[in-house]
Amino acid sequence: MKTNITTITDIKALKPVIKALKLEGKTIGFVPTMGYLHEGHISLIKRAREENDFVAVSIFVNPTQFGPNEDFEKYPRNFERDSAMCEEAGADLIFHPSPQEIYPQSYMTYVEVNEITEKLCGASRPGHFKGVTTIVNKLFNLVEPDRAYFGQKDAQQVAVIEKMVKDLNMNLQIIPCPIIREGDGLAMSSRNTYLSQSERAAALILSKSLFKAEEEIKSGSRSKAQLMDMIVSNIKSEPLAEIDYIEIVDAKTFRAIDTLEGDILIALAVRFGKTRLIDNLRLEV
Ligand code: PAF
Repeated sequence: MKTNITTITDIKALKPVIKALKLEGKTIGFVPTMGYLHEGHISLIKRAREENDFVAVSIFVNPTQFGPNEDFEKYPRNFERDSAMCEEAGADLIFHPSPQEIYPQSYMTYVEVNEITEKLCGASRPGHFKGVTTIVNKLFNLVEPDRAYFGQKDAQQVAVIEKMVKDLNMNLQIIPCPIIREGDGLAMSSRNTYLSQSERAAALILSKSLFKAEEEIKSGSRSKAQLMDMIVSNIKSEPLAEIDYIEIVDAKTFRAIDTLEGDILIALAVRFGKTRLIDNLRLEV
């Protein structure tokens, strides 16, 4: 579905638009992104379109969620392409602020969720989730959505944001949406564009290992140790893969589990050359 999309870059111009929508009683669906959109983002926008009167997308590469040696500067950006994709998917508005608009020189305030941010990606990327919760909080305050849509590929991010919304009594619904994969299984990510051809081929080991784990669980395997061994040795069989973490945790609390039962999440982060990819599988056992 095509719309006449509006782009707003400053907060002053955004406020009256949101105020008018609220006065008209319109529901707002919101998809926060860092741009360089792919089919995963598009699925979120389409879902937001189905469930709300108005759909806003933010495109902002958030500096506070990148560590000093991470890829903030070289994170892929292409606003024209993103804008056309948002329009095609049915979004009404793109909020595309500059870093100065969001973090002026006098900026001092951060939002932090404890415990679930300390493991997995939080352990490998110190400060990352503090940057995420801060920007998401600011964007929620600016866009005032009724529903916000996030991809389950970033399962820990979804859990952290859900916790923030609950703990801070924020008045919106978080809608987690399924991982969208390429035809060969690779989970879609803006960072896939960094991969060389051989790294791209090697990265298929992630989804293959997760699908194999799913098969084993579905055919009755209940040993966490055996499952971990299988996933680790599978991924290590790929010479270009360098494991950051592989963990099986409770999908809601991100606490370690001893037995494969309940709502579980197999989460992994693996480097291929300079590119760190994450993927996961959530299962009710
Ligand atoms: O998932 C992302 O793209 C980012 O972490 C988000 C939620 C847009 C915050 O910058």
